[in-house]
Amino acid sequence: MTKEIVFATNNPHKLSEVRAMAGDRLRILSLSEIGCHDDIPETADTLEGNALIKARWVKEKYGYDCFADDTGLMVDALDGAPGVYSARYAGPGCTPDDNIDRLLRELDGVEPERRTARFRTVVALILDGREQLFEGSVEGSIDTCRHGRSGFGYDPVFVAAESGMSFAEMTSEAKNAISHRGRAVKALFSYLH
Ligand code: IMP
Repeated sequence: MTKEIVFATNNPHKLSEVRAMAGDRLRILSLSEIGCHDDIPETADTLEGNALIKARWVKEKYGYDCFADDTGLMVDALDGAPGVYSARYAGPGCTPDDNIDRLLRELDGVEPERRTARFRTVVALILDGREQLFEGSVEGSIDTCRHGRSGFGYDPVFVAAESGMSFAEMTSEAKNAISHRGRAVKALFSYLH
């Protein structure tokens, strides 16, 4: 039998990545599919905190068991920035391109071996009255310019150590196999199955 679970996002890229991993035993519903168009405030200062805020919001206001994710890009030469503030790195209302532009500016002149970074994702699950966290991360580095057209967010400048390519140059399957979110969601799905 196919189980249904809400993924607390309306980001089409995240949805298609996660749906591609779900197989046919799990049907993933987006926030808009349950009638939620809220701009859920992400006010915590940790990925765990923000993932829990989103999952609890959906459970409390809409009554659905669900999972939510929060991701940060940690750059060593920037002392872990943009981290939990990755979505708003270039300021309120900024676009992913603005964020990349700021990141490249901040790293201007930093030598290749000091441009190491990692993505980390935390997934919060609320199921049958219990909360659980899953996580995944991927090591890589920040290139000096954009490469590739796939993916979203910081993908064009994040070069995964395992592939030597930017996430935006990889297919969705190849990215999912090694990515932060792919790993966190794999742990979640093994638990759910
Ligand atoms: P959030 O998890 O949606 O809050 O993501 C935080 C920030 O990280 C946003 O700027 C996203 O665009 C970016 N981000 C999240 N996941 C990925 C990814 O898989 N690749 C590149 N950027 C990402």
